[in-house]
Amino acid sequence: MSKITVVGAGNVGATCANVLAVNETADEVLMLDVKNGLAEGKAIDMMQTAQLLGFDTVVSGYTNDYAATAGSDIIIITSGIPRKPGMTREELIEVNAGIVKTVAESALKYSPDAILIVISNPMDTMTYLAGKILGLPRNRVIGMGGALDSSRFKFYLSQALQCNANEVEGMVIGGHGDTTMIPLSRLATYKGIPCSTLLREEKMNEVVKATMVGGATLTGLLGTSAWYAPGAAGAYVAASVIRNQKKMLPCSVVLEGEYGMSDICIGVPVILGRNGIEQIVELQLNDREKQLFEESAAAVRTTNSVLKELQVL
Ligand code: 2OP
Repeated sequence: MSKITVVGAGNVGATCANVLAVNETADEVLMLDVKNGLAEGKAIDMMQTAQLLGFDTVVSGYTNDYAATAGSDIIIITSGIPRKPGMTREELIEVNAGIVKTVAESALKYSPDAILIVISNPMDTMTYLAGKILGLPRNRVIGMGGALDSSRFKFYLSQALQCNANEVEGMVIGGHGDTTMIPLSRLATYKGIPCSTLLREEKMNEVVKATMVGGATLTGLLGTSAWYAPGAAGAYVAASVIRNQKKMLPCSVVLEGEYGMSDICIGVPVILGRNGIEQIVELQLNDREKQLFEESAAAVRTTNSVLKELQVL
């Protein structure tokens, strides 16, 4: 029996749970929320689609009852407040750090062997925080930002190329922030053909820019953070882990010397399997990409330093 817990039954958490259920990624998907009845209600609503959509996964919801999450293979943390238009992800740290700390500690108490997937923002710093306070080996703490940002990159590339997004390859590394993410345009391909030979430089720059502010653009339109792609990205990461798919995708992970860095969680390509992060892939970055990666890491470290000021670490 496989079991995935999604903490937070708001837009992102419920979308994530729904994708997990529809794809039958686990036998059991459990949602937890602090708001009375919210997780229970959304779980029942999802279960009432089981016959319509033809899935057998059992979805349940609980109000703040961590005992119910016991024995989870994967815990996905989506808790915390979302962005409002004009806000950066980093501005959420004051509220979200305390929430993520409590959630991570409470959930791991009941599922000591679980693999943790962090969606809450600022995502790299929340992943770093969860890993530090729980003292888990780094393969068990995964930030999903790069999976989301890479999907957005492929979407914008497909729009520019007027092609099917599933036929485009592209990765976004670095921090999950409006100015810190690094869409690797040099390595993006369409059916093996470098996108840089198919798009003018100006057009590629537009794609890169649109990707970087992809979340902010949606927050402007929606009045709150996006949820379909963030929820689906969390579910995609979870599927690669629980099904031992060995997919390579960028995720936020603790670096221990890779890319010349340590004591930081930041997005780099990893291989995901049943043990979580099974390998960190070291790309041969060019000088410009290396410089961007260093700038990105410096910004992520600045956000991490706030954890000490807030006394959560
Ligand atoms: C986003 O980029 C919520 O950080 C998430 O939409």
